[in-house]
Amino acid sequence: MKIAITGAGFVGLTTGVCFADKGHQAICVDINEGKIAKINSAVPPFFEKGLEPLLKKHINKNFTATTNLKEAIKSSDITFITVGTPFDGKQIDLSYVKAVSREIGSALKEVDKYHLVVVKSTVVPGTTDDVVLPILEETSGKKAGVDFGVGMNPEFLREGEAVDDFSDPDRIVIGGMDDKSREVLESLYQGFGSVDILRVNNKTAEMIKYTSNSLLATMISFSNEIANLCSSIDGVDVVDVLGGVHLDKRLTPIMPNGERIRPSFVSYLESGCGFGGSCFPKDVKALVNFGEKRGVRMEILEKVVSVNVNQPFQMINLLAGHFPDFKNLKVSVLGIAFKPGTDDVRESPALPIVEELAAKGAAIKVFDPIVRAESESSLKELNNITQAETLEDALKDVDAVLLITRWQEFEKIPELLKKLKISPLVIDGRRMINKTAVPKYLGIGLSQDPVFSK
Ligand code: UDX
Repeated sequence: MKIAITGAGFVGLTTGVCFADKGHQAICVDINEGKIAKINSAVPPFFEKGLEPLLKKHINKNFTATTNLKEAIKSSDITFITVGTPFDGKQIDLSYVKAVSREIGSALKEVDKYHLVVVKSTVVPGTTDDVVLPILEETSGKKAGVDFGVGMNPEFLREGEAVDDFSDPDRIVIGGMDDKSREVLESLYQGFGSVDILRVNNKTAEMIKYTSNSLLATMISFSNEIANLCSSIDGVDVVDVLGGVHLDKRLTPIMPNGERIRPSFVSYLESGCGFGGSCFPKDVKALVNFGEKRGVRMEILEKVVSVNVNQPFQMINLLAGHFPDFKNLKVSVLGIAFKPGTDDVRESPALPIVEELAAKGAAIKVFDPIVRAESESSLKELNNITQAETLEDALKDVDAVLLITRWQEFEKIPELLKKLKISPLVIDGRRMINKTAVPKYLGIGLSQDPVFSK
């Protein structure tokens, strides 16, 4: 089929390139000329594992990028809306969704066959039917359900795994205003194997996306609340506690041969210094606000947010328990990206941690395998921050090391400390290092007394 994708960000470009890889003809549209030129020269404007080779394979064959929205829509059967929904601190801002809907509508005036418009951006329930659909009707002068259809097809793409998540999905949610919209959308997903397909109305599709992310975020904040209690109980380590919980066969089923399956879902039931990224913090807050507007207080989700806002400061508390005065304390912060495998720093717990350390006068070294401190504007402005070029460099000549992001490279810390014959206090915000493998260790969910290995 021929598809247009409006908004060439992380979701839009991945969607376009992956649909092209499934044999469809895809055109990505964006207003940013520089971005389009980059894509057309086969360079993704952001880092996403596996995307560049696919882009190289399909560019100028069954995938192209353009700034000409009208032409893209006229030559397509389906148009996806994948523009951003920025968060204003309380709710999502629909101005890009509305603007692109108006443009799509005016392009539809010149389309003389049935066309399907599908919202893929994460939007609160009712947005597709009550905001996008009326704009499309008004600007096209045509009738939804007759001349064109409207669908909602949420994405479940993890940054860093987006190509695999798209190509080999766990579910496909087909939202539509009517059967015809759903049928056309579903036909696009032939070729995705025997994956579960859920056919629902648009509001349900919108709600599924928010509920999925809210559940995962809830699991993380729940694990962190338990961790904070464990750290107040002498001799109790949250890693053992949650490890025991994970052995519930409803979480990790036992196969007939006695082996356990450990679904990746279970790793959201691990404690740490908080979740970040462009989705969880924003989606949970947006759902709380959506509930508020409908007179439904989302008390659990309110707490999911507040536990998460406080969680990075557990790292600061652990440090303060050992070094009460941060003035001129030399501290390394390991990891700026909100999670491994991405250069995305949005809502990363590293940011409030570095800001707090800087405010309290610490001398900070920062190291991340991909992100440089100077590329992040909020860090650039702070005093007393230096960029370490290597992990080894980051470990040298500091009093304490705060491990924030679960980058695999950080597993080498014990070995490097041994080699360098140094013993800074290691505060493990991801509980990824064996607590007896370094000379001085503190971790989230472990009592405040540092573990001194023998
Ligand atoms: C998430 C959802 O997983 C995805 O389905 C949705 O479409 C977009 O939002 P993403 O934000 O890329 O994707 O990342 P994810 O890998 O889920 O991580 C989100 C947060 O959870 C991160 O802060 C990460 O550190 C944390 N996390 C992730 C865990 O604590 N444990 C994990 O096992 C994975």
